[in-house]
Amino acid sequence: MIIVCDHCKTRFRLADEAVNRDVFKAKCAKCDQIFTVTRAPPPEEPLRLDPSHIVEDPRYKVITICNQKGGVAKTSTCINLGGALAAMGRKVLLIDFDVQANLSELLGVPGERCFFDVIEQGGDRELSKAVLKVGNNLWCLPSNSRMALLSKRYLHTRGFEKILADHLKRITSFFDFVLIDTPPSLDFFTINALMASDFAIIPTQAEYLAVKGVKHVENIIDVLRRKTRHSLEYKVLITMYDERNTAARAVRANLRQAMGHHIFRTDVVHDPLVQESQIVRKAIAEYASGSEAARQYAAVAREIVGQTA
Ligand SMILES: Nc1ncnc2c1ncn2[C@@H]1O[C@H](COP(=O)(O)OP(=O)(O)OP(=O)(O)O)[C@@H](O)[C@H]1O
Ligand SMILES: [Mg+2]
Repeated sequence: MIIVCDHCKTRFRLADEAVNRDVFKAKCAKCDQIFTVTRAPPPEEPLRLDPSHIVEDPRYKVITICNQKGGVAKTSTCINLGGALAAMGRKVLLIDFDVQANLSELLGVPGERCFFDVIEQGGDRELSKAVLKVGNNLWCLPSNSRMALLSKRYLHTRGFEKILADHLKRITSFFDFVLIDTPPSLDFFTINALMASDFAIIPTQAEYLAVKGVKHVENIIDVLRRKTRHSLEYKVLITMYDERNTAARAVRANLRQAMGHHIFRTDVVHDPLVQESQIVRKAIAEYASGSEAARQYAAVAREIVGQTA
């Protein structure tokens, strides 16, 4: 939780476990003011989920979808893979961790409370209240423009890269899978998402320059693994693939050879129905379950569920 000195207004982060009373006195480490802190009452019902449905400790549960390159279908993969997992009966939380808030827009929850609002307003107790139901088996923690303040406020604080991980662990047990959508950069937001995850999906188009972006993400994952002993694994997903394009076929063949087992067996083709589904704010599994892209996202979901077994 965040507490604020009522004299000098300095903000402090306090672990929830550190206090066991709802009203307590704190001494400001900056100005020595002693002030009273009142903890917000717990939500009446954190999340309306039935814990009996939960898969216990799958191997990969929290999954970041990232690539510093823009427009490679990160957000589309988040919504459509999430939709495919939800259609398989899994309970899925989609986290919009991008200031652009495209995922929130596509899910019909733009402008709703975001992760930044939550930790400003009292932290973990608020987190479950900000999670909104957006479909059958599907929930969303939205983003909005205030998310930009998250990196401004916390970038230079100690342990900034674990803010999401620290908060998220309180609610992951409600879900079978948590998918995190990230911005087209490898900055504060993507690093936080990766640190909270067991697995990363790197969507890429089968284009020469796009593949360079993949290398970059691999390097970052490698650095995080070495510096933090974080057992983060990853796979590349080829998106918007066009079999008729000779260059795309060649790039895809090279990628498959170079990535070995770090690439999904399934590619997702360029399918105009994906764009149509976004206009009506539905995952492709719901909008056109028989479409090529829907079947491919379902196959990717099966690869993931297979990995978790
Ligand atoms: N399989 C597909 N077939 C056709 N169009 C697609 C497919 N996947 C994504 N698109 C389209 O490609 C565009 C970019 O997709 P998306 O917004 O998901 O990319 P992104 O990587 O999240 O972008 P950004 O880096 O800006 O966050 C969108 O217009 C989307 O509708
Ligand atoms: Mg996006």
